[in-house]
Amino acid sequence: MIRVAAVGDVHVDADVVGRYRPALTELADCADVLLLAGDLTRHGTVDEADCVAREFGDLPVPVVAVLGNHDYQCDQADEVTRILDGAGITVLEGSGTVIDSGEQRLGVAGVKGFGGGFSGRCATAFGEPEMKAFVRSTELSAERLASALNELDCDSRVALTHYSPVPDTLAGEPLEIYPFLGSYLLAQAIDAGGASLAIHGHAHRGCERGVTPGGIRVRNVAHPVIRQAFRVFHLGAV
Ligand SMILES: [Fe+2]
Ligand SMILES: [Fe+2]
Repeated sequence: MIRVAAVGDVHVDADVVGRYRPALTELADCADVLLLAGDLTRHGTVDEADCVAREFGDLPVPVVAVLGNHDYQCDQADEVTRILDGAGITVLEGSGTVIDSGEQRLGVAGVKGFGGGFSGRCATAFGEPEMKAFVRSTELSAERLASALNELDCDSRVALTHYSPVPDTLAGEPLEIYPFLGSYLLAQAIDAGGASLAIHGHAHRGCERGVTPGGIRVRNVAHPVIRQAFRVFHLGAV
């Protein structure tokens, strides 16, 4: 059994530093890894990334993250990633990592993901170049997630994204913004890649539980949804 702790949308700035730390220092008692599902900062500044590093760095378990749309706002995503890496946080984008936990090897594949909507009501790569670029960005993200999942050599796989792979976990959000909250293409990648759990954030007003068309459990761990420092999920060998 592997214990996976996860939280997203912590939106850290100086005023948030210290809010999560007391619970995080106890992490090793209940989890083998901590996943951060993007929107780690408010506006993606270097100063905010330093705050994230102080809050989530040097923990007693490995920390694996993807960035969210807020982390791109100041066009400093590379610098934000470098600062998090420096604090021992593994930032994934179209890549994966394997964590040894006793007799089990947990693989985590991550992408930020992107929008486009869900089956039957989604954007298509038709017409203007701007629309084609938008859809192509999501297609590329889903392709990279599927590849990263497939390349993992492990016992159990987790897909980590910021955007949602399913509409289930968006319940509570206005229907009009669903296309900006996720894409069914991410769920197709998760099903094709053999994940046993999919973690995402981004939907602050959504709900926690969902499932992909292939039957993989999906959990929205956005902090405003789970209302605690992290949730813990248990995974057995696949
Ligand atoms: Fe957020
Ligand atoms: Fe977001």
